[in-house]
Amino acid sequence: MAKEKQFPIEWESRRPALHYPDEPQAITGDVLEIGPGRGDMLFWLAQQHPEKQMVAIEMMLSRFRKLTKRIERFELTNIRLVRGNARIILPRYFLTPCFERVYVLFPDPWPKDRHSFMRLLSVEFLNQIASITRENGELIFATDHGPYAEWVVRNLEQVAAFRNLGTPFSADHTLIPNPDRTYFEKKWREQGKSIFFVHAQKNG
Ligand SMILES: C[S@@+](CC[C@H](N)C(=O)[O-])C[C@H]1O[C@@H](n2cnc3c(N)ncnc32)[C@H](O)[C@@H]1O
Repeated sequence: MAKEKQFPIEWESRRPALHYPDEPQAITGDVLEIGPGRGDMLFWLAQQHPEKQMVAIEMMLSRFRKLTKRIERFELTNIRLVRGNARIILPRYFLTPCFERVYVLFPDPWPKDRHSFMRLLSVEFLNQIASITRENGELIFATDHGPYAEWVVRNLEQVAAFRNLGTPFSADHTLIPNPDRTYFEKKWREQGKSIFFVHAQKNG
């Protein structure tokens, strides 16, 4: 029988993480965004909520560099940024259940069956997110890809710490509070695609 393909975690682990503004021993904060891309949501939240500490993990080096330049240009002091794969970064630096909200907006859907092992929100990763989310904290996931959304809903059923607040999806567009939305949400809406929101809450 063919061996099921696994995400290449060992290879990824050897790539160094980069940090802005500096490398901490451990990372805490109030709001976490995984895969901010251009940072539409991240910057909006950081500007609206200067009292909150934002943390973002972005895998792509060029995006990380652009984000750090924009943080400096906007003179924002409440954003911590990490370049790395969230699967590696979470267990390495995030040690306490501190986040009140975790956003994963329009992650790469890996639509082909043979690539589905690359999708981020596996049962294992959802458990990792639960372990760094505070009691009653929330996970907000958005995608234009129906099968990915359904897969996440099924995975959430296997994660005891999270309760899906949707039926199974949420119709609450204010889950993304930025009225300008994100680059990818705008792109998919312009193409007439439906957007699926998944809203889960950690048990109290
Ligand atoms: C399709 S873009 C979405 C960007 C943004 N959230 C938006 O809605 O416009 C996905 C982003 O997630 C990043 N990404 C993908 N997998 C990641 C991972 N495992 N860890 C951290 N970032 C990741 C990509 O580099 C990219 O910037």
